[in-house]
Amino acid sequence: MDKILGTLNGVDYTIGGTLLELSYLLAAILFVIGLKLLSHPETARRGNFYAGGGMVLAMLTTLLLHKNANGVGIQPANVWIILAAIGVGSAIGWIIARKIKMTAMPQLVSFYNATGGAASALVALLEFPNADMSNWGSVLVTLLGLIIGSVAFSGSMIAYGKLDGKVKDIRAGYMSFVNLALLVGTFGLAIFILLSGQTPAELNWAIYLLLFVSLLYGVLFVMPIGGADMPVVISLLNSFTGIAAAMAGFIYNNQAMILGGILVGAAGSILTLLMCKAMNRSLLNVIIGAFGGGGTAAAGAEGTMKEMTMSDASVLLAYSQNIVIIPGYGLAVAQAQHICHELDLLLADKGVNVRYAIHPVAGRMPGHMNVLLAEADVPYDKLVEMADINPDMPNTDVAIVIGANDVVNPAAINDPGSPIAGMPIIKAHEAKNIIVMKRGRGKGYAGIENSLFFDDKTRLLFGNAKDTLQTLVSEIKGL
Ligand code: TAP
Repeated sequence: MDKILGTLNGVDYTIGGTLLELSYLLAAILFVIGLKLLSHPETARRGNFYAGGGMVLAMLTTLLLHKNANGVGIQPANVWIILAAIGVGSAIGWIIARKIKMTAMPQLVSFYNATGGAASALVALLEFPNADMSNWGSVLVTLLGLIIGSVAFSGSMIAYGKLDGKVKDIRAGYMSFVNLALLVGTFGLAIFILLSGQTPAELNWAIYLLLFVSLLYGVLFVMPIGGADMPVVISLLNSFTGIAAAMAGFIYNNQAMILGGILVGAAGSILTLLMCKAMNRSLLNVIIGAFGGGGTAAAGAEGTMKEMTMSDASVLLAYSQNIVIIPGYGLAVAQAQHICHELDLLLADKGVNVRYAIHPVAGRMPGHMNVLLAEADVPYDKLVEMADINPDMPNTDVAIVIGANDVVNPAAINDPGSPIAGMPIIKAHEAKNIIVMKRGRGKGYAGIENSLFFDDKTRLLFGNAKDTLQTLVSEIKGL
């Protein structure tokens, strides 16, 4: 393995070193294919398998073939410690992943994210004493790894606690000033470490102070963010973890780690921006939490909501040709996905074409509706994305809105003063008839009225979505 294959630009290439680099290239290809496959529910499992395979390959070849600058490989005793740590970590991860409920998925993502951030911060902390202080670049990546990894760790732990109902929101006007001061202090300290000209040993106090302020910043940064904004923040913290891992990769000059980190960082950032765009909000607005609560009443959002009887609803549905079900957060709250699928099968039996319209931010986490409906075995080809279903809405006999509100609020299109102006919506209002299932007069996440509920074509079925659907199914069966 140590045999030199050739020399290029003064660098000797050994068989082992070349195999290691080739394995990193293969791992990188597997990561990218994995990410691509993860973008569709049908291929997501395979995507996970490919990306995981790439990671296993990178870890194995690093353990077997990695050599430091002096040509020394990893000590066998350390290999055993590393394998034991991987074994324990994998076992814990496997058990948690098997036990976790689908609804607790965001918590799990947050927790795993925290561990990634902590790992990167620890790498930076352990490697700082060996830093060559005259090499600015390497000290900078170490400090960034420590800061970003610590923020990702403590921020994700707070996010985990909030999602699990263990940590309450703390909102106070002064929080943004405290956070700004902490952020300035953190970077000020990092610049001091970079420019002080002292040795790592002399800077020991400063590095631990940097760890402390970064951890504190992570806590206070997530603390004021409203519960429903957590998915956006989790995605942001996820991108931080990726960037921190890339920094750790730079510390070790390990291409697989750099690339894996950059992919996670980029994917997390893109998801964060897509979520913000689908909600028509800026990231700053999410972080400062200026959404919801009050807002202006949407134009035309007044009048009376017209109720409908179950028997009228069942006849209308059973004798329709095209029906589009628009699920929202309320479907998840009511856990009505199974009975909803039963209604869909019942109608399909009667020759009705039933499809589901999926809005990218319906519910409270990315892919919420897809996960929910997949749990009830709704086939993927029945789920149609917003952009594809909207042109069909005028030909739809009935749009059934189940616990959705903001994602079907026409104010987003026709009221420039609305807080959701510009947010893309599913155009339920263009359907020939609209049936809305909700419990009462509750508002949606944005806290504004919805003119769709007062539309002449709209009829309401009040009640918990699961009970309403249950009664409707019995009614249709009895026709
Ligand atoms: P929402 O606008 O939150 O509306 C939910 C509706 O469901 C409400 O009208 C509520 O009315 C009804 N409801 C609640 N519980 C119900 C139950 N048990 N049975 C029947 N109806 C029930 O939901 P949406 O349309 O899905 O929109 C999602 C919102 O969340 C958007 O504003 C989006 O920007 C935001 N958001 C999404 C994400 C992601 S990534 N998905 C992340 C953060 C924020 P009643 O109280 O009258 O029943």
